[in-house]
Amino acid sequence: MIIGAFGQIGSELVVELRNIYGNENVFATDIKEPYEDMKKQGPWAVLDVLDTKRLVHYVIRHKITQIYHLAAVLSGNAEKIPIQAWHINMESLMNILDLAKEVPEINKIFWPSSIAVFGPTTPRQKTPQLTVTEPNTVYGISKLAGERWIEYYNQKYGLDIRSIRYPGLISYKTEPGGGTTDYAVEIFYEAIKNGSYECFLSENSYLPMQFMDDAIKATVTLMQTDKSKLSIQSSYNVGGISFSPKEIYEEIKIHLPEFKISYKPDFRQAIADSWPASIDDTVAQKDWGLKNVYDIKKLTEVMLRGVSEKFGKK
Ligand code: SER
Repeated sequence: MIIGAFGQIGSELVVELRNIYGNENVFATDIKEPYEDMKKQGPWAVLDVLDTKRLVHYVIRHKITQIYHLAAVLSGNAEKIPIQAWHINMESLMNILDLAKEVPEINKIFWPSSIAVFGPTTPRQKTPQLTVTEPNTVYGISKLAGERWIEYYNQKYGLDIRSIRYPGLISYKTEPGGGTTDYAVEIFYEAIKNGSYECFLSENSYLPMQFMDDAIKATVTLMQTDKSKLSIQSSYNVGGISFSPKEIYEEIKIHLPEFKISYKPDFRQAIADSWPASIDDTVAQKDWGLKNVYDIKKLTEVMLRGVSEKFGKK
């Protein structure tokens, strides 16, 4: 069962899990209706994760054995509605953890954490797996609390909940919404549609990023790894690549020489400044073989091609 199945990660993870386990065996749920081809592909339902009764109903009726809980309010949006965001991000996780404790058929859970668990007092370069975590955003606080709770449930109740601290995720199939790293997706859309982009972060704001194919592969690999190999019971650092708005702009310019950028940092600049510039993910490499294929060049080529095709340009 995937919760948040039609969001940025979900829409690609559902396809991959259906390839692996068969269309009928992956139940896709989201608060909104899916696209038509997703509806035809396999079982789906509209589900508000805070609706515990319906959640339990679907888990029992579909004989769910694994849950991927991806629904969340991202960093930028969460700052606008702090208490609601905390409520949605935390209650939804607690509902699922408690359900997993009660229903023995549920044998594995995936829940995404984020680089947002780090804060201004964390070492910014090559941030280690184990380090200072004093986030100062609502999103980061909810992810850090979530990490503590999953470790607690893993240890106290013997559950098997796995997690990745995703960096900014870059993809063209489904757009993200309300995140700080979203500029690195928007920039491709604006480059193709308008030939110019006004960036909400300053030119030298380095952040860790990962192309979606690598993120999906990492997620599936982590979930398939033998439990005995996992030394982390909270969430794994995953870094991918690290670049600034200026660097991705230069890379796009190689393909679109006329492309223009301007910088107008907004409230998300402070969020970006509090996050790591790069991540040390050697523990994930060692424990379950994390390996990223996409560098900034390859990612730019694939994004430009993907977004162009979406808009019917060559
Ligand atoms: N991409 C997310 C955000 O910017 C980070 O987890 O909110």
